[in-house]
Amino acid sequence: MAIYDTARGLLADALFSQVAIHAEYGGVVPELASRDHIRKTLPLVDKVLAEAELLKTDIDGIAYTAGPGLVGALMVGATLGRSMARGLGVPSLGIHHMEGHLLAPMLADEPPQWPFVALLVSGGHTQLVRVDGLGRYKLLGESLDDAAGEAFDKTAKMLELGYPGGPAVAALAEQGNPARFDFPRPMVKRPGLDFSFSGLKTHTRTTIAAEGKKPQGLTDIDKADIARAFESAVVDTLVIKCRRALKQEGLRTLVMAGGVSANKRLRAALTEKLGPEGMGVYYPAPSLCTDNGAMIAYAGAQRMVAGERDTDDTDVRARWPM
Ligand code: KG4
Ligand code: ZN
Repeated sequence: MAIYDTARGLLADALFSQVAIHAEYGGVVPELASRDHIRKTLPLVDKVLAEAELLKTDIDGIAYTAGPGLVGALMVGATLGRSMARGLGVPSLGIHHMEGHLLAPMLADEPPQWPFVALLVSGGHTQLVRVDGLGRYKLLGESLDDAAGEAFDKTAKMLELGYPGGPAVAALAEQGNPARFDFPRPMVKRPGLDFSFSGLKTHTRTTIAAEGKKPQGLTDIDKADIARAFESAVVDTLVIKCRRALKQEGLRTLVMAGGVSANKRLRAALTEKLGPEGMGVYYPAPSLCTDNGAMIAYAGAQRMVAGERDTDDTDVRARWPM
């Protein structure tokens, strides 16, 4: 939940993480997610209003995530957002989750300037998008199978690291030996900007199985080395495709978005490899990389200023191409 003011910027931003609720089950349980949204959304509304020292009646419009995502959770947010807007007599607007991620870097103190290439890497998406302005997006490439975050989460599961997987794999990789395993960099030799991570997942699984057959079984050192090899393969692949996208579009600015862009090694590699070639990389603060209300408030404010409103047949959508 967040409050954004087009003149004063972000006034309040609050998050209730469901990680602890889902961790017990090793992944997101849709039913529990929806139920917890019901419990947490109203208290968060009060929290951001208090933080911004505003009254409900000061709010000029309400944006909410309309998709893509888990429909039950989306319905809770949409129903609350639209009902509050109706009660207050202000407009509401459903926002595309990935557009929120795409625009999150604009909330930085020194935001990037359009046009730029955005790398969207989350639990559900891996996309390269050319951004020419608000609502002017061109998909340059995307994952043909697993998303990068999903690959991290599945690797975490195979290594029995629990949920959420990305940060756990990254933390373990810190202790790994980068020279021990060399994992494939999928699709980098082929032209184009699409990704595929399912082969890498299979390679990880086979390596785990092979190492686990040793008399001592899979050790903590093996796990760390595998985590490191996996992370390096994902990072290299993303760096190669980002460079290719910038060259293809003749652009010099790359913007990172989505949960995986919180990955430290990915951030360091992009800056190290693209910086010397005269390309700038923008990272939102980690709190703006993972799912948050601020990005939806920002996207909603921009679109509402441009005159957009919900209509009577506005709906939430599990799948929604951007
Ligand atoms: O954007 P996000 O918060 O949620 C959506 O999927 O929309 O992204 C979550 C994804 C998860 O797959 C998580 O494992 C991954 O981002 N992630 C990371 C890191 N932090 C979060 N992956 C790698 N390294 C991280 N430090
Ligand atoms: Zn997300």
